[in-house]
Amino acid sequence: MLLCSLLLSGALIPKEGMAQSQMDRFIDSLMARMTLDEKIGQLNLPVSGDIVTGQAGSSDIGRKVREGKVGGLFNIKGVEKIRAIQEIAVKESRLHIPLLFGMDVIHGYQTVFPIPLGLTATWDMALVERSARIAAIEATAQGINWNFSPMADIARDPRWGRVSEGCGEDPFLGSAVTRAMVRGYQGKDLSKANTMMATVKHFALYGASEAGRDYNTTDMSRIRMYNEYFPTYKAAVDEGVGCVMSSFNEIDGIPATGNRWLLTDVLRRQWKFKGFVVSDYTSINEMIDHGIGDLQQVSARALNAGLDMDMVGEGFLTTLKKSLKEKKVTEARIHEACRSILQAKYKLGLFEDPFRYCDLQRAQTEVFTSAHRKEARDIAAQSFVLLKNQGNLLPLKRKGTIALVGPLADNRENMTGTWSVAAEHARSVSILDGLKQVAGGDVRLLTARGSNLDYDSLFEDRAGMFGKSLRRDPRSAELLVREAVDIANQADVVVAALGESAEMSGEASSRTDIGIPQAQRDLLKALLQTGKPVILLLFAGRPMTLTWEQEHVPAILNLWFGGSETGLAAADVLFGDVNPSGKLPSTFPRHVGQIPIYYNHKNTGRPLPEGGWFQKFKGNYLDIPNDPLYPFGFGLSYTNFEYTAPLVSNTSPKGLTKISVSTTVTNTGTVTGKEVVQLYIRDRVGSVTRPVKELKSFKKISLEPGEKKTVSFDITTDDLKFYDNNLRYDWEPGTFEIMIGGNSRDIKSISIEWKR
Ligand code: BGC
Repeated sequence: MLLCSLLLSGALIPKEGMAQSQMDRFIDSLMARMTLDEKIGQLNLPVSGDIVTGQAGSSDIGRKVREGKVGGLFNIKGVEKIRAIQEIAVKESRLHIPLLFGMDVIHGYQTVFPIPLGLTATWDMALVERSARIAAIEATAQGINWNFSPMADIARDPRWGRVSEGCGEDPFLGSAVTRAMVRGYQGKDLSKANTMMATVKHFALYGASEAGRDYNTTDMSRIRMYNEYFPTYKAAVDEGVGCVMSSFNEIDGIPATGNRWLLTDVLRRQWKFKGFVVSDYTSINEMIDHGIGDLQQVSARALNAGLDMDMVGEGFLTTLKKSLKEKKVTEARIHEACRSILQAKYKLGLFEDPFRYCDLQRAQTEVFTSAHRKEARDIAAQSFVLLKNQGNLLPLKRKGTIALVGPLADNRENMTGTWSVAAEHARSVSILDGLKQVAGGDVRLLTARGSNLDYDSLFEDRAGMFGKSLRRDPRSAELLVREAVDIANQADVVVAALGESAEMSGEASSRTDIGIPQAQRDLLKALLQTGKPVILLLFAGRPMTLTWEQEHVPAILNLWFGGSETGLAAADVLFGDVNPSGKLPSTFPRHVGQIPIYYNHKNTGRPLPEGGWFQKFKGNYLDIPNDPLYPFGFGLSYTNFEYTAPLVSNTSPKGLTKISVSTTVTNTGTVTGKEVVQLYIRDRVGSVTRPVKELKSFKKISLEPGEKKTVSFDITTDDLKFYDNNLRYDWEPGTFEIMIGGNSRDIKSISIEWKR
């Protein structure tokens, strides 16, 4: 009541850009009226999946909300359900404090965009931002005001299933993507009805789990953390991200969720983070299994470390009061945590209008619209990476007979990829749907399943969760292959839609073999034996090992998981309406034994010359070369680009000056194409060892056939900075190699001498 009268008096109505002090006064006055239990209640984020419309009031969650024991809820789909629970919070709880409603909207809401790894492969930050903007428009139209995205975990081990959710292996590209997503979700004004608070996750180093096994231990030097793994999270903080999610793994022997150095010293003191920190799903309770205490101990540890909100586990709710009595936590720290959550609610405008994000009209008109789907189709086409195109097999002509084969050819459920909570899978466009719509009347389309996902049906069950089944075909493997070979024999060209199912990547989907499952590989072999040209349309939630495929299949187009419009986008690229321009955000190994493999590695004292083969007493393998199958930044086009050697404005700059580096790129082919011009730098001599190259800039350009463009990049000493052995961030004078090219391997370079 008091809250309402304060708001009605007009004295405390929050407005855009309102001074911090006004927000503080509002929250001070609110907190002065809150009991300790209510403050602890704000720190609680229980699971809410069981809520159904009309029953919110009588559910256990409804009771807790009424009692002021809930700060927010997550992954509830549907504006009516959200509105019903918000009503309880603001009408029936003592202080009428509205709830946060979170969700994993990680690559779109109902209009689903490519998986984040695919979005990263566009190397087009305007598109990445646009996808996040549309995701925010749709999610907020259905009651969501808080997003558990972006995932900024640098990952160099594709066995880890969650590479699909992230931004690849490189801190520079990853930071650009993370920033673009935060901008897209949060916009310029968080209190607007179509912007939502973003959460950068999983802080920190979650992508470096040992053996690529999800949730596993990480162990890393600080210098590596600061130079290679921290920049993406920091980029989100610099961009003003509202929330940070702690990770499941340990760091220096202390789980991130209870790690004070990480959550307070680094995040709040060094990086000046001003939002709130949420745990990951039961990550407080999981510290019991990590072996650092019972629920009371680990909950106190998390709070003291700087964690503000407890996702699902209710350790805060059930133990903090006792810990306060026993002086294991302070009231000041509980206040601080509570304040940070109330501030987020204030900034979202929830105190002004708790139903700001519950607009039934918008829910109907702004979700899965044809305009959004059109953009999703365009973005998906930009994310695909052409890995091989022997003899210009692609693009296809719009005539003749195409045999479309494979377990992923006629399946809608798997098109969106992992983590698509709000998607209605049956509305996605399959490859078959897409080809039918785009091919035109002169193309005859034959289809056959060809194989199941794999021979092992139990594996297939594990890889087909959350309504994303491939509906196993009960017929024998021989019969399936024979049927496919039959139609291949009648066709001019074979398109084989093969690879991973959507849930073969994502959370708890680590793999030791990251190749195409054997049943599909056998199908591919049989198709190739027909002698017909075969195009592999690859579904991949991670970098895969495609060494055999690279050797034997004439054309490979990697689709990742393109989202709800995958089929149309794939058809656009197959027929050449869109020229592929995606570039790999992660290295594709030749063999799983090369992992971890990444382009920006150190040289070592016994380097094998790049592209070299075995030499005794060099850092290499007896059985295969060191270099990857496809390098970071790689991706072909239906045209070709030629680069001139880079030119620099000054080969011996001094001090804090700016130089420019340029190259002229020519489209030497016959069709218009886009190219990602990439700039790498190598610091030849440092006080600590430096990577063999690091991405420092990139530009995506479009060129007509025969057209040339000069692309220039400015470089300042900021681009040369790194953390040294004392974690001092600065540049050091000396020789730098500047490299420009269309991927991290095929580059042209020039040396400069930068003096103090
Ligand atoms: C995942 C998070 C996610 C959370 C809530 C966890 O299992 O690690 O990424 O945001 O669940 O759904």
